[in-house]
Amino acid sequence: MQELKWWQNAVVYQVYPRSFQDSDGDGIGDLRGVISRIPYIADLGVDAIWFSPMFKSPNVDNGYDISDYEDIMDEFGTMEDFDELMEVCNEHGIKIILDLVVNHSSDQHEWFINARKDPHSREGQFYHWHEGFRDEDGNVLSEPNRWGSVFGGSTWEYVEEHDLYYLHSFAVEQPDLNWENPELRNEVYDMMKFWCDKGVAGFRMDVINLIKKPEPFPMEEPDGTYTGLMFGNAPGVHDYLQEMNREVLSKYDLLTVGETGGVRPEDAYKYANLEDTELSMIFQFEHVDELDKDGVHGKYYPYELHLPDLKDIFTRWQEGLAGKAWNSLFWCNHDQPRVVSRWGSKDEKFREKSAKMLAHVLHFQQGTPYIYQGEELGMTNMNFESKEDLQDIAAINWIKSAVETGEATEDEVFQQILRTGRDHARTPMQWDDSMNAGFSDAEDTWLIVNPNYTHINAAEQVNREDSVYNYYKKLVSLRHEKELITNGSYELFDLEDVNTFSYARDNDSEVLFVSANFKAEEHVVVVPEKFRNKHGEVWLSNEEDIYNVQELGEELVLPAYATIAFAMKKD
Ligand code: GLC
Repeated sequence: MQELKWWQNAVVYQVYPRSFQDSDGDGIGDLRGVISRIPYIADLGVDAIWFSPMFKSPNVDNGYDISDYEDIMDEFGTMEDFDELMEVCNEHGIKIILDLVVNHSSDQHEWFINARKDPHSREGQFYHWHEGFRDEDGNVLSEPNRWGSVFGGSTWEYVEEHDLYYLHSFAVEQPDLNWENPELRNEVYDMMKFWCDKGVAGFRMDVINLIKKPEPFPMEEPDGTYTGLMFGNAPGVHDYLQEMNREVLSKYDLLTVGETGGVRPEDAYKYANLEDTELSMIFQFEHVDELDKDGVHGKYYPYELHLPDLKDIFTRWQEGLAGKAWNSLFWCNHDQPRVVSRWGSKDEKFREKSAKMLAHVLHFQQGTPYIYQGEELGMTNMNFESKEDLQDIAAINWIKSAVETGEATEDEVFQQILRTGRDHARTPMQWDDSMNAGFSDAEDTWLIVNPNYTHINAAEQVNREDSVYNYYKKLVSLRHEKELITNGSYELFDLEDVNTFSYARDNDSEVLFVSANFKAEEHVVVVPEKFRNKHGEVWLSNEEDIYNVQELGEELVLPAYATIAFAMKKD
């Protein structure tokens, strides 16, 4: 293995500032709130924090619509607060990773305000403008083509005074930036340097695989249905990222992680190659986007997890990237439901045990793990009672458009949102059992607090040895202590076993057997030959008894949701 970069044995914690800690009583999290909680994050032992956007924004998509890339959102505080946040993070040895949202801006960004006045102006050219589809007589019949926006409806918005449409992959208020334009690219690079020069240690790049659009745009006759976005991972995206690497990234020592839906390991060889010509790593979504939905019903279709599918995905990424590119490892983020509610136990009896189990199978893999706020407490999905409780634009638009098109009833969509909607991850962080879980002393918080905060909260877990929090803490410290976790090879066992997930990690000096039971009843794992009848030690388990194991036989009995990580030295 080549010399390690700092981020190859780092663990990253994701903060969604809106829901982390409110300091001024308006029911919305803010930077001073985050500052007060840095010691908690530091205690977990992580190396860096990725902050979801904290920049000026009208908040149509909670900060993923930026109106000024070099200033802080009013609700979150000021640049002085950011500088102080940086100082406090530095004192705790924690690096800061910012969210770079440059596939689109807000329609309230000065660039777009000017673009709207004159699409042909310098800033007008920072966006994608296109004529509509015309009939033979030149009359506009419809938008240029049938691309559908991620948040419902067409990707095109008509501006009457110019008789032109602009492209928005997401909400109408999030116009896509035109990366063909070198002046726009330079503006982005300057903005990135502004933050790097302040000392930030990297960027998570929002939907970065969408920045390249097909040229010329395909025109299509109107036929009623929208097709979705048809331009993810277009080949030219790599030219932009290589240029960004030359112009900005290569000049600093950064962790960069691209959000790249729909990628396969073959794509990762380009985006995240170890030669470092583009990004450090990418987020792939096969394991969270493709196992409990289908192409017909889209995001909210409920499917049960078939464990071999999950094992197959992880294994393809572990084996596929080994020695060539670098993996990121995650279960949760601000767009995903809480993993313990999704694939762990819905029964409170096993919630903590299954939360630890899920962490276990992920964190012993090769790559850089990300922990999303509250995941380390086993925080759960929220039992929203009605659609009035939802805040997420994706959910609200989904209900609206499903009802409009007659695709599903409001209740059907709502039931599906209860499974996998984005607001589950965004309910306020549960700090203690006081009012609003200690998140805010406002009467109303921007999104409701999950009432289970009375028993699921940080204060209850931090000092309890067998808590989910302390399990995560051990996983983080093992990653720092044991080189094998960073550099060992990976081998899967028993792909077809529907109950347990077992794999090995192996390097010159040690070999590790990782196994976990995904089910609520006991299951037996056949121990692979090379781990039988040899002395070893248990690095981690969520079962008291398993800690005493010093040797494995032919079979290992794993009680409900039990885990083991059993290491042997090589002779
Ligand atoms: C990314 C973000 C998501 C946002 C979208 C548009 O997928 O993670 O929260 O809505 O991009 O910016």
